[in-house]
Amino acid sequence: MSTPDEGYGETIFSHADANEYERLQALSDALDPVTLSVLESLPSEVGPQWLELGAGNGSVARWMAERHPSVHVTGTDRSLRFLDPRGHDNLRFLCHDVTQDSFPDGSWDLIHARYLLCHLPERDYVHSATTRWLSPGGWLVLEEPALFPLHSARDDAYRRVSLGALEVLAQRLGTDCTDCALNLPIKSASLGLADISMQVTCPTITLGTPACTFWRLTLEHLKPAIAELPYVREEEVADVIDRLSQPGFLDLGMATITVTARKPCSGEPRDGSGAEEHRNGEQR
Ligand SMILES: C[S@@+](CC[C@H](N)C(=O)[O-])C[C@H]1O[C@@H](n2cnc3c(N)ncnc32)[C@H](O)[C@@H]1O
Repeated sequence: MSTPDEGYGETIFSHADANEYERLQALSDALDPVTLSVLESLPSEVGPQWLELGAGNGSVARWMAERHPSVHVTGTDRSLRFLDPRGHDNLRFLCHDVTQDSFPDGSWDLIHARYLLCHLPERDYVHSATTRWLSPGGWLVLEEPALFPLHSARDDAYRRVSLGALEVLAQRLGTDCTDCALNLPIKSASLGLADISMQVTCPTITLGTPACTFWRLTLEHLKPAIAELPYVREEEVADVIDRLSQPGFLDLGMATITVTARKPCSGEPRDGSGAEEHRNGEQR
């Protein structure tokens, strides 16, 4: 892949953009139910230092702090514009660029990141850094989008416009919605993580769903660049955006792959069998 033109948020998806709060809100409304149920299913003995990377509008970090008053939650992002810790004594937000700023090794008991690595050309470095930042026995939960359902979308213009949007992001930011998510389990294993599990969620894109609102706002944001692609006509982009705002549109959206993995304690067998015994009957 060629070198990307710009970083996430510099122009594309800047938090200063008029619709960016609404777009991130729709994203969190679409994804939070699965995220929260996965976090809820982690063993109850997870330690108290929790990190939410690329927190966006902060919905997951706020939920962590409210649901678990005894944990200390740190949410990070390159932009703190939408992040306000007020009302939660156990929550703080840090301006932190995950590709440049670090944390001490072993300092977090739970790290969660969602729709972050896909946008970072340094995704392999970040995956390995987060693994180092985990304490022994700590959990890593990564959630990333995968475009494969879009190839099966029945609406021809919607399919080309949607895949076109992802091509624009690949060219401009280095975003990878093809392999990044699907590679998470094997990369987690190669980093020495254990107890790896994967969940796949595929939304329906239809009026009234947050996934549809998120995708419509994403296409609107990228509209001029999509219209320059050789396989999309300018009027088709406007038409698809218009039809996503009307009743009757019904097709597949991007999947989300959720991968959960645990850093083994020292001396523990690599297959994580020690942890299985430890976890039996101790789900939250
Ligand atoms: C697509 S949004 C996802 C927001 C949130 N994780 C969610 O799923 O609702 C990506 C977020 O990552 C942040 N981000 C992008 N690059 C970053 C970096 N290098 N370091 C930290 N945060 C970054 C953006 O500012 C944005 O808030």
